[in-house]
Amino acid sequence: MDKQKFLDDYVVERRGTDCFKWDELESRYGDKDLISMWVADMEFKTCDQVIDAMIKRTRHGVFGYSCVPGEYYQVFSDWMERRYRFPLKKEWVRFSTGCVTGIAWMVHAFTKPGDACLILTPVYYPFHNVVTNNGRTLVTVDLEYDNGHFSMDYKAIEKAIVENNVKMFIQCSPHNPAGRVWSEEELEQVLEICKRHQVLVVSDEIHQDITLKDHAFTPAAVAKEGAYRDMVITLSSASKTFNLAGLPHSHIIITNESLMAVYDKFASALNRTEINVLGVVATMAAYAHGDEWLDHVLEVIEDNYSYLKHTLNDKAPDITVCDLEGTYLVLLDLRKCVDQNGVKEFIQDKCRLAVDYGEWFGKNFNGFVRLNLATDPAYVRQAVDNIVNQLSNCN
Ligand SMILES: Cc1ncc(COP(=O)(O)O)c(C=O)c1O
Repeated sequence: MDKQKFLDDYVVERRGTDCFKWDELESRYGDKDLISMWVADMEFKTCDQVIDAMIKRTRHGVFGYSCVPGEYYQVFSDWMERRYRFPLKKEWVRFSTGCVTGIAWMVHAFTKPGDACLILTPVYYPFHNVVTNNGRTLVTVDLEYDNGHFSMDYKAIEKAIVENNVKMFIQCSPHNPAGRVWSEEELEQVLEICKRHQVLVVSDEIHQDITLKDHAFTPAAVAKEGAYRDMVITLSSASKTFNLAGLPHSHIIITNESLMAVYDKFASALNRTEINVLGVVATMAAYAHGDEWLDHVLEVIEDNYSYLKHTLNDKAPDITVCDLEGTYLVLLDLRKCVDQNGVKEFIQDKCRLAVDYGEWFGKNFNGFVRLNLATDPAYVRQAVDNIVNQLSNCN
């Protein structure tokens, strides 16, 4: 199938379907007529086999308490092994209803009130809330930023860990919104620091499958031939990859038996570990049959990014389009051309875009905005046109 055929078949109108992204524009942005480029899901229907599997299961008509079939673990492990050298044992896997819920559970299971948890900013805003709203101490270290490229500041990370007696590092890999797919070498450096100071790593790898060009994703548990595996808890889901976020279902992967025992004790106290039936059915079908659909989606994201970057570099060179190695969420650095107090007026009122604002991800990132590129290229073209036109009006 060529790209146009994919777009013809899979791009859908989402307005009027009770989706956050379009139907909440009025309540969240005060304007229902914006081009919605904020929340991280897609305008694409998920792959046919997922829909078919859900229809089949739905026709059965009973949605009682359910378990996860043995085949699920095999299909999930096969996906992880063939893509990321991470074959899974069934006893390493538990489930949660979303990765953010998973982070909250890890915070409760493995830290005490007041303990310090580290995040690298700018980062997905629930990472901040899940620490502060649960009575833990939030420690932030800014990523280093150089002309559209983010990297980790190892010295600052180690200093913050030591000075604050950090107990848990909540890592985002690939990183939203920095757009980085951490290389194995980068992961090794940060994991080594955590090991040195006995910091437990919770690695949110929900964006693992969205990698562009030749940027290979390495799970933290696989870095350096698994050397850090016993101090890493991996959270993942098929939800970003296959546009399933409305069916909350995600994975908690713990290879270390002692840590798993702590988690299981916590989970039994929680008394809430049942799975979402349709989430299980959809995930299994996606991992079994979704490779080709995913290739098409990645092509669309890659082309959308390339169009955005080249056009803005050419026609609006004062905007820095940040690197996008992974995720479909790209940051634009507007600081050279838009006054920091006027970002909303420029991007929303003039360019007519609903975006995520840089300061949502970290206090030092006012002047950045995040755009979602997992969408119809027509929206990306319109967004770019609006930005270029508005900038030339300003000049
Ligand atoms: C890094 C990251 N983690 C978690 C989530 C949300 O995951 P869930 O809906 O499974 O809680 C997102 C959504 O954008 C995300 O970017």
